[in-house]
Amino acid sequence: MTYKQKMDEELKRIRNKSQVRILAIESSCDETSVAIVENGREVLSCVIDTQIEIHKRFGGVVPEVASRNHIQAIDNVCNEALKQANLTFDDIDLIAVTYGAGLLGALLVGVSFAKGLAFALNKPLLAINHIKGHIASNYITHKNLQPPFVCLLVSGGHTAILNVKNYKNFELVGSTVDDAVGECFDKVARIMGLSYPGGVNIDRMATKGTPNIEFTHKNILNGTYNFSFSGIKTAVINYVHNLKQKNEEINISNISASFQKLVVGELSNKTIEAMKALKSKKLVVAGGVSANSYLKDELTKKCNENGFELFMPELKYCTDNAAMIGSCAYFELMNGMNCANIDLTAKSTLPLCQNE
Ligand code: KG4
Ligand code: ZN
Repeated sequence: MTYKQKMDEELKRIRNKSQVRILAIESSCDETSVAIVENGREVLSCVIDTQIEIHKRFGGVVPEVASRNHIQAIDNVCNEALKQANLTFDDIDLIAVTYGAGLLGALLVGVSFAKGLAFALNKPLLAINHIKGHIASNYITHKNLQPPFVCLLVSGGHTAILNVKNYKNFELVGSTVDDAVGECFDKVARIMGLSYPGGVNIDRMATKGTPNIEFTHKNILNGTYNFSFSGIKTAVINYVHNLKQKNEEINISNISASFQKLVVGELSNKTIEAMKALKSKKLVVAGGVSANSYLKDELTKKCNENGFELFMPELKYCTDNAAMIGSCAYFELMNGMNCANIDLTAKSTLPLCQNE
């Protein structure tokens, strides 16, 4: 019997257990994280070693630097996760790892480490899609949350409205045709001289500003559920360049507030329209930009007006972490996911859903 055949049998046994403990590994970008999650909802530990300070001086994530730092950190992060949960490898039922989408070299560190662990410990390995992990971060925060729901996915690499039908299947309702919204936040922040990662700094500056600037951009996607952020980004960049050329003052707070209002308006209006069209009353937000305070305020307001329920992850689970991967792995397991092959490799891109 091959490793996979043996482990698929083992997974059948694990599915029948009342307590399933998953050791999950995440290394898709600049966070090395290991978590231990029980039954998909209880986080026994979640250790995150962030490289933000390292990448700050480059103004963004340098892939090669990220991989090197994952290699240095991963063993200690894993040991620390076991220590904080007061467990040993014997208490773990299976290993889960993010295998895509993300930076290839960064992902490879987590995937190789996970394969080594699984093989050496003779435990099954589940390969998890990072984006599905972001959605699962809500299952940790909201213990009774279950599909179906509509999900607004807003991360550094993706922006989409998804119709989540069950734990396994979801349908793409709309998505960005160019930049992801997090990427747009980061680029606009950079042009204004705000440090990496830009999103949270724009959020902070916007609270001190007034949204009194109108950025002129052509929105060709009106009437669809798709988004375009590159026009907005260019409008802000041109506005800032213009002021710089004229040696005029750049009011970062007002620019941040105006930019954020425009982007959040797009996201929230289209999401609410999609929910009405799909006759859904449950909205789940996922991905790093779900940490944005104005997005939270706007969606809360609009969901209240429409009688919709709103679910957002706890702040610490908004951005990349392994707990969400452990949660996702549990629901994948319970919905029939089989053990990964030992030749599993990292993927820089993965389809979001069946109809993408
Ligand atoms: O989901 P995530 O951690 O990584 C990806 O899977 O891409 O998202 C990272 C993105 C970055 O672009 C970051 O600037 C953005 O999330 N972000 C925010 C905030 N916190 C993080 N954007 C706006 N407001 C925030 N508070
Ligand atoms: Zn992410």
